[in-house]
Amino acid sequence: MKLELIHKKIASCKKCELSKTRNLTVPGEGDPNSKLMFIGEAPGRKEDETGKPFHGAAGKILTQLLEHVGMERQDVFITSILKCRPPKNRLPKKEEVAECLKHLYSQFDSIKPKYIVLMGNSAIKHVFGKLDMSAEHGTVKQKDGRNYFITYHPAAILYRRRLFDTVKEDYAILKKLL
Ligand code: URA
Repeated sequence: MKLELIHKKIASCKKCELSKTRNLTVPGEGDPNSKLMFIGEAPGRKEDETGKPFHGAAGKILTQLLEHVGMERQDVFITSILKCRPPKNRLPKKEEVAECLKHLYSQFDSIKPKYIVLMGNSAIKHVFGKLDMSAEHGTVKQKDGRNYFITYHPAAILYRRRLFDTVKEDYAILKKLL
């Protein structure tokens, strides 16, 4: 399915209760032919207002991490597990994730990235279950013929500034894989 069509489907999706409280859907943005897809947890307030992923404080960190390895946001495709904001940024519910993952897998099939970057435990959990982030970050894992790269969510750096260098190293590893 073409990405535009997937995004149209997302815009009119009413498969879970988040469709009642969202302002805008946040399907994702970037290069539809990118080798890299970055996956976060769910849109926040800023994203719900703009319809664009990672446009708040965590987004600024993500932009800096990409720039650190000579990439720009438009070179990659950025999205999240959920395409609608959970009220008060609460954690995604199981049934919301189950529905929304269908959109995400359609995006994987359309974009066909070389690596899918799972940012943070929440994104990782829905693909692999629980992983030990401190041991597994910066590594590649395979599942169902797809390559996943494990790293921290950029928001983690907002709370633990000393993680910045660690995550920069992850991005350097990722860049070398391309
Ligand atoms: N955090 C996410 O996981 N996704 C966004 O789009 C914004 C913040």
